Amino acid sequence: MECLVTGGAGFVGSHLIERLLMDNHSVTCLDDFSTGKRKNIDHIKDRINIVKGDIRDPDVARKVVKNVDNVFHLAAQISVNRSVREPQFDASVNIEGTINLLEATCNSSIKRFIYISTGGAIYGEPEIIPASENTLEDPISPYGISKLVGEKYLHWFHRVYGLSYSIIRPANIYGPRQDPLGEAGVISIFLGRIKDKKPLEIFGDGNDTRDYVYVKDIAEICIQALISDDIDIFNAGSGKQTSVLELIEIIEDVTNLKSNKRFCEPRSGDVNRISLDSSRAFEKLKWKPKTDLISGISNTWDWFISQT
Ligand SMILES: NC(=O)c1ccc[n+]([C@@H]2O[C@H](COP(=O)([O-])OP(=O)(O)OC[C@H]3O[C@@H](n4cnc5c(N)ncnc54)[C@H](O)[C@@H]3O)[C@@H](O)[C@H]2O)c1
Repeated sequence: MECLVTGGAGFVGSHLIERLLMDNHSVTCLDDFSTGKRKNIDHIKDRINIVKGDIRDPDVARKVVKNVDNVFHLAAQISVNRSVREPQFDASVNIEGTINLLEATCNSSIKRFIYISTGGAIYGEPEIIPASENTLEDPISPYGISKLVGEKYLHWFHRVYGLSYSIIRPANIYGPRQDPLGEAGVISIFLGRIKDKKPLEIFGDGNDTRDYVYVKDIAEICIQALISDDIDIFNAGSGKQTSVLELIEIIEDVTNLKSNKRFCEPRSGDVNRISLDSSRAFEKLKWKPKTDLISGISNTWDWFISQT
């Protein structure tokens, strides 16, 4: 089938494209290369159609949606921190960009629209952890709000125009190609800094928890969502909470390096504790994450080492 991957030059998008090619799908990658990189897709550039453009541009959206069967929408402003500093910019990419793409699907033959939302930022501080999809959405950052609004628009386009969709709400994704100098992705940031012998910055006391999921497991749930016809929302996480301090211990074990820690003020918009209950994805999509945290961090570290 013909698949469009928005944000395909990004960290997650490039892994998803590789996975789609394994199943012999044809892929168009739309990216403005704001945080995405040519080198993420250089090894597959001859096998895909690469379009440089902005999801907020109606002409671009119409052009890329024409003649494709499925859309995987990943292009986004992904930094919680930037969303706090620049909420309007965050909304323009994550809300207006998503609506623009959805409008373009109205006069197309799109069969499925898979939207990569967020499970880490949409529930706020839930009382019950792991949080299921039935947990009240209560985002505490503009990023969480904008991703949630994107979901609501998707549902509206389904109700009014019959668009078939699934929403994936991933936990914190990590793995090879995640930018160690970016504003999101603590595992890559820590691996990059420990490698360069720089202190690891901990916002708060280090007891905040996150649920970590390996990038290839996220590519896999996207494939399962494509072949299903469920119109639904799926959490995608491990169900386990790992604190920042526990994460650093694992990183020190895997890399065999000792870190220096620098404790900083907590950041506005960051949640304290989260993990996701993904039993719906297991029941309906037969998906569960295959990569445990130690193996995933080892793979990511091997990739880091191979880059020098
Ligand atoms: N990384 C995580 O931990 C995580 C967790 C949950 C959800 N997600 C979601 O997964 C998706 C991919 O995130 P990622 O971690 O790969 O980030 P990323 O920054 O590597 O990928 C985003 C891609 O979108 C592109 N992009 C940004 N604005 C664009 C625009 N206006 N027009 C066209 N392209 C644009 C960027 O150049 C980049 O290639 C995002 O939707 C994000 O919200 C990520």
